[in-house]
Amino acid sequence: MKKISLLVAAALMVPSAFAHQAGDILVRGGAIMVSPTTDSNDTLDVQPNTQLGLTLSYMITDNWGVELLAATPFSHSVEMGGSEVAKVKHLPPSLMAQYYFGNAQSKVRPYVGAGINYTTFFDEEAKGTLAAAGSPVELDDSWGIAAQAGLDMKINENWFVNGSVWYMDIDTDVKTDLGTFKTSIDPIGLMVGLGYRF
Ligand code: NI
Repeated sequence: MKKISLLVAAALMVPSAFAHQAGDILVRGGAIMVSPTTDSNDTLDVQPNTQLGLTLSYMITDNWGVELLAATPFSHSVEMGGSEVAKVKHLPPSLMAQYYFGNAQSKVRPYVGAGINYTTFFDEEAKGTLAAAGSPVELDDSWGIAAQAGLDMKINENWFVNGSVWYMDIDTDVKTDLGTFKTSIDPIGLMVGLGYRF
């Protein structure tokens, strides 16, 4: 009898194997590739770019969380008729409400999220025909909706592997001396990386 109660006591002292529960802070970092979904109505074509993505989540309950996405600035080449006419940089911070499937004991936590994206463009630089025309290039900031789906897979008590896919509604006016071009970038973002749970 004494032996059994000792075993039970020992079992209770083993750190719990819980993951993603209320109050947790989750930090994820990895490569994020932003691929604009080109619309055939667009005069301008925006090329993909990969940067370092960083997300910070807070678990409000075992299933609901909020997440902020940050990244190092994306640098995109803007093309018109297949030739580069500008280079632009942007930052697309997004704030998401998330739902995590499973429970605090699950080793794998798939999740979906929805929220808002704010994108600010900077370091716009005219290239090719626009540069030759001496035209400035300016892109308006954009507000839009964002959606995501992802998966966290537990490695141990604190570390996990993460993969997620994002959609962001990013539309902007590209202002040049040759005219203003309405451009929808609406990228799909793919992020693969590691996460740490505090
Ligand atoms: Ni759009």
